[in-house]
Amino acid sequence: MSHAVAYPTGVGEFDRVLGGGLVPGGVVLVAGEPGVGKSTLLLDVAARTARTGQTVLYVSGEESAAQVRGRAERIGALADRLLLASETDLGTLVGQVDHARPALLVVDSVQAVASADVDGQAGGVSQVREVAGTLIQLAKSRGIAVLLVGHVTKDGSVAGPRVLEHLVDAVVQFEGDRHSRLRLVRAVKNRFGATDEVGCFELRDSGIASLPDPSGLFLSQAGDAVPGTCVTVAMEGRRPIVTEVQALVTGSTLPSPRRTTSGLDSSRLAMILAVLEKRSGLAAGTRDVFAATVGGMRTTEPAADLAVLLALASSAMDQPLARDAVALGEVGLAGEIRRVPALGPRLGEAARLGFRYALVPQGQLDVAPPAELSPVEVADVREAVEAMGRLCGPRATTAVSSATA
Ligand SMILES: Nc1ncnc2c1ncn2[C@@H]1O[C@H](COP(=O)(O)OP(=O)(O)OP(=O)(O)O)[C@@H](O)[C@H]1O
Ligand SMILES: [Mg+2]
Repeated sequence: MSHAVAYPTGVGEFDRVLGGGLVPGGVVLVAGEPGVGKSTLLLDVAARTARTGQTVLYVSGEESAAQVRGRAERIGALADRLLLASETDLGTLVGQVDHARPALLVVDSVQAVASADVDGQAGGVSQVREVAGTLIQLAKSRGIAVLLVGHVTKDGSVAGPRVLEHLVDAVVQFEGDRHSRLRLVRAVKNRFGATDEVGCFELRDSGIASLPDPSGLFLSQAGDAVPGTCVTVAMEGRRPIVTEVQALVTGSTLPSPRRTTSGLDSSRLAMILAVLEKRSGLAAGTRDVFAATVGGMRTTEPAADLAVLLALASSAMDQPLARDAVALGEVGLAGEIRRVPALGPRLGEAARLGFRYALVPQGQLDVAPPAELSPVEVADVREAVEAMGRLCGPRATTAVSSATA
């Protein structure tokens, strides 16, 4: 099996992750935590595939036929060639497949279906193994594409999906934060294509929408520059995504001041704070520090360090940074700014969204940056803070660099 035989489902961001679409006979496990939107996504995929002229059977083992139909109505996922069923018995399910002869079978979820021939409860290891094995056999012998929903808990302790990962052709993870509507789909295993693609979606009341151009979502809407924000370009798989970091540094009355992160790595924040304290004299020990990304983005890669540091410095000095600049660089323990992977794509994305300046690690500009974007090379934290000050105008230069001198 190869890319050549994959056919698109009509859900662009899902196809992107799968390496083009579904493959006849291919079995894909879609794993995700409760409530993340698995049923919503797969019902949408099922309906769109059906509208391309294929017969699709969507079997829910968790909801009644009326519930499934209700969701399909709510999210606009009814289609002539989409058959909706509610079934928990494996034998009956196989009979329905024999009868309907679908090109695509969706089973929601693999933990909810059980075989009468095997002991143990639905969702147990032996049942999951039997259900998955039977469906994989069915997929291969009839050339049916199969999408299996798999539940995982926060600690990943459910036996099912772990057993399953070896059996299926591809595993995609459906991720999202409870407080955000952003959903990311990532391939963690793929026999049909690469695993470095990420699909972006937004969960809405009316269903799930593909986000082919997610970059602007992770910027705050504020028109005027406010202290404590800095923009960077994060990589999600092969995709550069422009992302804003916000920080708040305030006086603390607590014996051990707060260190709170959202969407950022807390141990990297601690390291960046320590470097900033050493280089600038910022008295972090008596301050509460909050740092977050905007819009539910998770940015844990070191390339975002410089933006975190500049957002912290900006908040501590109560001095806004230039709104038309992005910052790219890993911060080293000695305050040096280190190289980042994929600099070219990051700069291209910043230019595309209208940014005019980019702070980049000294010596890394081996490819010409986009014409619209002026790179500013910085070797260390001090140079970075000064450069940001210069981009903000003369008043800011004095304020920020004297505060860090
Ligand atoms: N009737 C509704 N109206 C509006 N939004 C809804 C409705 N039902 C569900 N949702 C939203 O859709 C989200 C995703 O639900 P969905 O059932 O697709 O998740 P799931 O991953 O399949 O969950 P589960 O693990 O329970 O099967 C819910 O968290 C909720 O925010
Ligand atoms: Mg569900």
